[in-house]
Amino acid sequence: MRMSLRRGLRLVLAFIMVVFVMLNLHVLYNTPESETTAVVVDKRDSNAAVFPLAQAWGNVGKQGDDGQVPLQDGQVRTTAKLSLIIPSKASNQTSSGLKNSTVPKKTRYNRYINVNDSEALKLEVTRINSEQHVHNLDRFGLSLGSDSLVLVIQTHNRPEHLRMLLDSMRKVKDINNVLLIVSHDVYSHQLNDLVEAVDFCPVMQIFFPFSQQIYSKEFPGEHPNDCPRNTKKAEALRIKCNNAEHPDKYGHYREAKYCQAKHHWIWKLQHVFEEIHFLKDYEGNIMLLEDDYFLSEDILFSTHMLKGLKERDCPDCRMLVLGNYDKNQNYAINGAKAERTFWISSKHNMGMTFNRSLWLEIKRCAKEFCSFDDYNWDWTLQHLSMKCIPEKVRLLVMKASRIFHLGECGMHKKAKNCDPQAKVQEIETKLAQNYKHLYPNMVTVAGDSRIKLRDPKPNGGWGDIRDHNMCLQNFRNASSAHMR
Ligand SMILES: *[C@@H]1O[C@H](CO)[C@@H](O)[C@H](O)[C@H]1NC(C)=O
Ligand SMILES: *[C@@H]1O[C@H](CO)[C@@H](O)[C@H](O)[C@H]1NC(C)=O
Ligand SMILES: *[C@@H]1O[C@H](CO)[C@@H](O)[C@H](O)[C@H]1NC(C)=O
Ligand SMILES: *[C@@H]1O[C@H](CO)[C@@H](O)[C@H](O)[C@H]1NC(C)=O
Ligand SMILES: *[C@@H]1O[C@H](CO)[C@@H](O)[C@H](O)[C@H]1NC(C)=O
Repeated sequence: MRMSLRRGLRLVLAFIMVVFVMLNLHVLYNTPESETTAVVVDKRDSNAAVFPLAQAWGNVGKQGDDGQVPLQDGQVRTTAKLSLIIPSKASNQTSSGLKNSTVPKKTRYNRYINVNDSEALKLEVTRINSEQHVHNLDRFGLSLGSDSLVLVIQTHNRPEHLRMLLDSMRKVKDINNVLLIVSHDVYSHQLNDLVEAVDFCPVMQIFFPFSQQIYSKEFPGEHPNDCPRNTKKAEALRIKCNNAEHPDKYGHYREAKYCQAKHHWIWKLQHVFEEIHFLKDYEGNIMLLEDDYFLSEDILFSTHMLKGLKERDCPDCRMLVLGNYDKNQNYAINGAKAERTFWISSKHNMGMTFNRSLWLEIKRCAKEFCSFDDYNWDWTLQHLSMKCIPEKVRLLVMKASRIFHLGECGMHKKAKNCDPQAKVQEIETKLAQNYKHLYPNMVTVAGDSRIKLRDPKPNGGWGDIRDHNMCLQNFRNASSAHMR
């Protein structure tokens, strides 16, 4: 029987209405439960669940297969292009052997190193960076697909802060699925022990090789013949201090302690995206954290929801941002809302989440990044967003923060009634009161920011061409521990 035109139209209409209703019920939206199971491997799945998947990816992780050497503890082998899967060892034999793996652990970091011995430190740091050991692989396994997340903490020398961050991390839902990378610019037993004690996810430590700790009496640390900050140029030229020709745009000479963070920031990105061998083909996101942050337990859940939102409502967004600095956080109203906006350094630098494609954009602007006369990486990045990266960096930011900044007692401000522990207490109370507004099962765009963008005026502190050159070198090459 021939279908009449009217009947056909009616069918089409009915179909559209059904789709409309389903969309409104969020039936078709990504929820964390619908996460690609192909890349999720956890302890409970054990090998039975892993190997069929692994075969789909090309015999991934099947030990001793095709003549390959079985994986050692902590060793990671790159596998299929899209994803890497290291199964955890679920058998009883290895879980009793697990206790014994604390024996080699102790020799992983040199307990007897004299941290004042630059040459020894240089070797130690080079060794650790090239070994690329991942702790806890035996417990959690590791999977790195396009839906995965790698958390990268840049840490200085604040063990009490780092401890609080790690404590908050331990409570985060699904934390065992991420890879945690901790990037240090200070080698200390206390910090190493803290990270070694992480028992909730796979973790790797990396060390910025051009730190002030290692180069304590030479560039990039402070050289005895460096020009004092406030020397006038004429005087500097007369006394022939180092790089007298290159004060910053305000006439000041470099201060090593303020330059380190920007160098470290770029080195760490280069190292993560290009030097860590099993991340070479990684297509998922990384999230940048600092040691004085505190995380809400739904941060990974929220990240996943925000990622789904980006795909639907902001395909040209290049970043997700999980934290904000608003004084008043209203979870009842804003818990499930995001704002769509362009990157502003002072607002969007907490919990930046992006993938390799933005890294490559930044890298293309290496010259701008390294010569912009500002020692703050975030102001520099805003300059890039305005002047170098095509189309400016657009992003989605959570309106109710999933990250809290404890570091009011940070590098610049003087410690005045600064008690991070009290702040943690306050945050935990707030989150507990708002528990029912966490884990939003649907995040929506609550509008576009109208803040006027401008190219930031450089703050100076980055005039020395030695910094420009080292910065360029770090962009190109991270694994080298030698300077020039
Ligand atoms: C581990 O040991 C327990 C008892 O000790 C046993 O019930 C279980 O089947 C063992 N599991 C494996 C994978 O061998
Ligand atoms: C673990 O190490 C202890 C000594 O450190 C040893 O006595 C024990 O047999 C080891 N256990 C296994 C399962 O290797
Ligand atoms: C390292 O140097 C610092 C200060 O320069 C000093 O206080 C410390 O005792 C030294 N440590 C060692 C092990 O020599
Ligand atoms: C990486 O991010 C860009 C946006 O910056 C996006 O277009 C691309 O699809 C992302 N890649 C993957 C594998 O998700
Ligand atoms: C990186 O550094 C090493 C050691 O200094 C050097 O051999 C290598 O050519 C450098 N690679 C690049 C891309 O600059």
